Amino acid sequence: MMKTKAKGASELPLNTILPGDCVEVMNALPENSVDLIFADPPYNLQLRGDLHRPDNSKVDAVDDHWDQFASFEAYDRFTKDWLKAARRILKPNGAIWVIGSYHNIFRVGAALQNEGYWILNDVVWRKANPMPNFRGKRLTNAHETMIWASKSEKAKYTFNYEALKELNEGVQMRSDWVLPICNGHERLKDANGDKAHPTQKPQSLLHRVLIGSTNPGDVVLDPFFGTGTTGAVAKMLGRNFIGIEREEAYREVAEARIAKIRKFDNEALEVTRAKRAEPRVPFGQLVERGMLRPGEELWSSNGRHKAKVRADGTLTNEDDIKGSIHQVGAKLEGAPSCNGWTYWCIKRDGKQIPIDAMRQQIRQEMR
Ligand SMILES: C[S@@+](CC[C@H](N)C(=O)[O-])C[C@H]1O[C@@H](n2cnc3c(N)ncnc32)[C@H](O)[C@@H]1O
Repeated sequence: MMKTKAKGASELPLNTILPGDCVEVMNALPENSVDLIFADPPYNLQLRGDLHRPDNSKVDAVDDHWDQFASFEAYDRFTKDWLKAARRILKPNGAIWVIGSYHNIFRVGAALQNEGYWILNDVVWRKANPMPNFRGKRLTNAHETMIWASKSEKAKYTFNYEALKELNEGVQMRSDWVLPICNGHERLKDANGDKAHPTQKPQSLLHRVLIGSTNPGDVVLDPFFGTGTTGAVAKMLGRNFIGIEREEAYREVAEARIAKIRKFDNEALEVTRAKRAEPRVPFGQLVERGMLRPGEELWSSNGRHKAKVRADGTLTNEDDIKGSIHQVGAKLEGAPSCNGWTYWCIKRDGKQIPIDAMRQQIRQEMR
């Protein structure tokens, strides 16, 4: 087993795959200790008999024993138990992602709310290359749903908005993600060349989840580890992982996979962050500091309007329009709003200088 210790999380078995039932294992971990949980629980597919293609070949469907539940009630009990155990170990500002299909995700969604989680988004993972519908009796099932929820309504969960926007070429990341299913060289095979696991998730999905909702050094736990996709991406991205998996064969596949992964260098792991909020500078401060004198004239940047500065930091003009730099600018332009800082200019040595330059000077002094 791989083991490394991170500062401040000494009680946690970091970067380790733990054997056993995930409820029991999570109950043995310290409470409030994990930043994020990514869970890909059994789907409870309720398959009745084998599924065949038109040429009579058998479809490699998920019919494994770990996906069998006696009834919906049994599945609901199981869901409630693991969600409860997961919530206890999440830090107060922690969050969870659960992925599922129409077979289970609605039951999981209700259980999340019943257990006190606060749903933030549901994300549709649209499969760029879904498996066709062989019988032609229903729509091609081309997506899975992920629910993202914080530990509670009040939680200050991690959301790297700017980083996701950059990942999407400068456009806000939406809740529908088009990504291919896992195949090609990424699909792990066993000794016979068969799929090592029927539901291995693509790394691209986890990349987006972890970039968007964790930071380097965070602890990410996956209670249904399978082939360890969460651990592999977490390691690449400099996050710590804890995996839990009941089946020894899957643990072995996951360990071998993760051992080969190399972490990206620290510089590459820095992501774009929101600009730190600049300190607020009221326009009146320019007057108080003597940078602008009451009675001094300001000109609109288009040169069409002028107004006079008043002693209380408001403006007035010859038509008796009065108000803040923003209000007077908006009124003169007939616009719903106006950024007075860039709209108004002073004239110095024949040049127009936006009053924003004075605000920046004050901000420099405040740093
Ligand atoms: C849907 S698969 C997860 C696949 C994984 N996301 C991947 O990319 O390989 C669910 C996994 O959970 C495991 N599992 C099911 N019930 C479990 C339980 N109660 N405790 C621990 N593992 C469990 C199964 O053995 C299976 O490997």
